Amino acid sequence: MRVLVTGGTGYIGSHTVVELLTAGHEVTIVDNLANSSPIVVDRISAITGSSFDFHSIDVRDEAGLDDVVATAAYDAVLHFAGLKSVAESVERPLEYFDNNVTGTITLCRVLARRGVRTIVFSSSATVYGDPPSLPLTEATPPGAPTNPYGRTKLVIEDILTDLQRADRRWSVILLRYFNPVGAHESGLVGEDPKGTPNNLMPYLAQVAVGKLDRLTIHGDDYATPDGTGVRDYIHVVDLAAGHVAALEKLVGVPGAHVYNLGTGSGTSVRELVAAFETAAGRTIPTVVGPRRPGDVAANWCDASKAAAELGWVATRTTADMCRDMWRWQTQNPDGYET
Ligand code: NAD
Ligand code: UD1
Repeated sequence: MRVLVTGGTGYIGSHTVVELLTAGHEVTIVDNLANSSPIVVDRISAITGSSFDFHSIDVRDEAGLDDVVATAAYDAVLHFAGLKSVAESVERPLEYFDNNVTGTITLCRVLARRGVRTIVFSSSATVYGDPPSLPLTEATPPGAPTNPYGRTKLVIEDILTDLQRADRRWSVILLRYFNPVGAHESGLVGEDPKGTPNNLMPYLAQVAVGKLDRLTIHGDDYATPDGTGVRDYIHVVDLAAGHVAALEKLVGVPGAHVYNLGTGSGTSVRELVAAFETAAGRTIPTVVGPRRPGDVAANWCDASKAAAELGWVATRTTADMCRDMWRWQTQNPDGYET
């Protein structure tokens, strides 16, 4: 298969490109490097021993994108390109709607013109809002995301679904990720947040390596077994494999297909801290702070639809996630700038 990957030098995109190349697919990456490093291109080549095309293009650049799409007969697009910081989206909503929503509309216009009608979109568990019940299934109606970032995901899901209704030839694949963590086992690619991380796993890793003093646990008075927030953490390599499975099953299959990608079980903040302490062989100082606005108490998925229909299940454990994250962090203490 020939696959165009937007946002392919980012965290999840880079791991997915590795899995695609390893499975024998041909890849072209389009990324404006707004939140990634060009070094990733060399790292992917080092892991896979394969070559692929890379274009430094913004997906809102319709002419530039059209030039790329026109040069080859793509079977599908994996659309990772987007901005993803919740806090930033609250401060700069127009930038988030423009980048994420306009970017997707521009991409789809180019794809439609060039006859590429399979798109896999990086959606998020955030579209469910505050879960009415757990586990979350694909039949759970989307809720009210608590921030502009989450709303861009829901709007894009709606746009792509409407596009498919208007032209039934499209295969629209909406993948709702739970909490992607960890890194490739080579330690060559991983998550490289700019500034102080907002998410739990990269924050934990930076405390463990000594870059940050302590982890603040955002609330320990939730209605969960130990009072701290519970999430469905999924190893990024399992998530990447989920994309390959979805593509191989659904490329060219008309419809709007929705899948949760998670492990199907929840882990609390305290449980993840303990697992990371074991992986890193050191104690991680913590302090309990207030709840973070917009956080839900607990969130995990029913992953059985992806298992039944895509033949995909997440196989890596929490210990694997922590071990691989720790390897990435120690080999690259300052990320790709190391
Ligand atoms: P990331 O920031 O590491 O990767 C996104 C990539 O897209 C970056 O390389 C960035 O440079 C690129 N990009 C952004 N805007 C662009 C534009 N206009 N044109 C071209 N390239 C652009 O993020 P990630 O964690 O790899 O996430 C990938 C996708 O998955 C995003 O859409 C994100 O919203 C979604 N997602 C991520 C998570 C998560 O926890 N990481 C959870 C759910 C959904
Ligand atoms: C967050 C975003 C979500 C986004 C996802 C991936 C919010 C409200 N939600 O999800 O929209 O899709 O990241 O980018 O920001 N925690 C701490 N201390 C920390 C950091 C986190 O205790 O320093 C806790 C949180 O309260 C939560 C858990 O760890 O219970 C996981 O947090 P995080 O990694 O930020 O992911 P989400 O909040 O699930």
